[in-house]
Amino acid sequence: MTILDGKKISNDIKAEIKAEVDKMKANGEKVPHLAAIIVGNDGASLTYVNNKVRSCKEVGFDSTLVTMRSTTSELELLDKIEELNNDDTIDGFIVQLPLPEQIQTQKVLMAVNPDKDVDGFHPTNFGRMSLDMSTFIPATPFGILELLERYNIPTKGKHTVVIGRSYIVGRPMSILMGRSGFPGNSTVTLTHEYTKNITQITSQADIIIIAVGIPGFLKAEMIKDDAVVIDVGTTRVADDTNPRGYVLKGDVDFENASKKASFITPVPGGVGPMTIAMLLKNTLLAREQRRN
Ligand code: GUN
Repeated sequence: MTILDGKKISNDIKAEIKAEVDKMKANGEKVPHLAAIIVGNDGASLTYVNNKVRSCKEVGFDSTLVTMRSTTSELELLDKIEELNNDDTIDGFIVQLPLPEQIQTQKVLMAVNPDKDVDGFHPTNFGRMSLDMSTFIPATPFGILELLERYNIPTKGKHTVVIGRSYIVGRPMSILMGRSGFPGNSTVTLTHEYTKNITQITSQADIIIIAVGIPGFLKAEMIKDDAVVIDVGTTRVADDTNPRGYVLKGDVDFENASKKASFITPVPGGVGPMTIAMLLKNTLLAREQRRN
């Protein structure tokens, strides 16, 4: 069994990005600039966004964090997005999800200029991805592809079962694994909360990618020997013995599933760090495209 070390791979990717940024600086070029908008003060979202900003500094990007109060109206957020769309110094930006309930997420995603949509959630970019055109691939699925590639895990003709159909992870992942090329060429089954007999399906999977946010959902009995298990779950579970007051729990019963799997991602240190690295990669791409 091999543990897919997302922490290490993400550090490798960040080093590659930093080398590109150093070249830009040496040539007197503008470095990539990522902005992030966060609405409200959800603890987990704040942590994610702060990590994104910190990672920008690590690789030499400029970054801007826009914080808006939890009572922000949809119109105020749309105005801010328009401002970032028109700000020539910003190459890419994201609106951290989830948003407060008074704001319609779809309207917000539609408002982002597709050329700056480094999350890849705008319908234009989602469509481009589905049509095999070059685009910004959503960071978490992109990170999973990168892990599969860098560990040389075969995907052609394999049965990939995706659990969870969110547009942030499950839906794009199911499209990407079925595309031609590597990693891809899989036979994909997309499962969700209404799927019947899920164990019957997961036990046939060569590769399982789970993103449901239910700690320990995938049990060892649900997977076959030598399955590849990718765990996207990061639920905060209260834990008084931890200085933070919580621990992060994945969607997989790691202790038992790891005894059967051929490759498996840990939580933390698996998919999570990859997401940030690929957001940086998309931002570098956005800068390069705007330059050309
Ligand atoms: N919330 C959870 N994951 C993501 C992500 O990849 N991008 C944004 N914008 N919000 C998220």
